[in-house]
Amino acid sequence: MNIVITGASKGIGFELAKLFAENENNTIIGIARSENLLKELKNECIRQNLKSKFKSLVFDIEDNEKIKSNLRIEIEKYVDSVDILINNAGFLVNKPFAETQINDINKTFNINLISPSVIIQSLIPLLKLSNVKHVVNISSM
Ligand SMILES: NC(=O)c1ccc[n+]([C@@H]2O[C@H](COP(=O)([O-])OP(=O)(O)OC[C@H]3O[C@@H](n4cnc5c(N)ncnc54)[C@H](OP(=O)(O)O)[C@@H]3O)[C@@H](O)[C@H]2O)c1
Repeated sequence: MNIVITGASKGIGFELAKLFAENENNTIIGIARSENLLKELKNECIRQNLKSKFKSLVFDIEDNEKIKSNLRIEIEKYVDSVDILINNAGFLVNKPFAETQINDINKTFNINLISPSVIIQSLIPLLKLSNVKHVVNISSM
């Protein structure tokens, strides 16, 4: 299967990518901003299974216009279709609510709600080509 995971450089996304990469029939496209952490993940996948197919995609999902114009094109460099999209990347404001700024609130809504919606819309043409077509949204604050 072809699996796209946002927020693959750490935490839940990192572990999910490793799990899927155990099966060499899967191609995993891991999205995050940290190129070095994605490289480490690729190395871990290869250590698990030499034939694993993990592809790093350094991309900031905060930029919705860039998602619209570029994300599908970047993903099509690796796969023709997408079977599973996992919207996992998330943003958490780590301060008391009373001190939360409007920018924090905007960023929370953007990364946790709007960007995942735009990612789904952008990948619909590739999801339509799959017989499986799963979208998993990991919820955030
Ligand atoms: N862990 C929990 O207890 C828990 C509980 C409830 C919900 N969740 C949700 O589960 C998801 C994963 O949580 P986690 O704890 O594994 O998170 P984490 O360890 O903080 O990792 C977040 C991931 O999202 C990526 N990311 C953040 N902003 C991004 C951006 N603008 N563009 C691209 N990638 C971005 C980060 O990569 P880069 O920094 O490299 O870009 C990182 O790979 C989140 O949506 C979180 O809200 C987690």
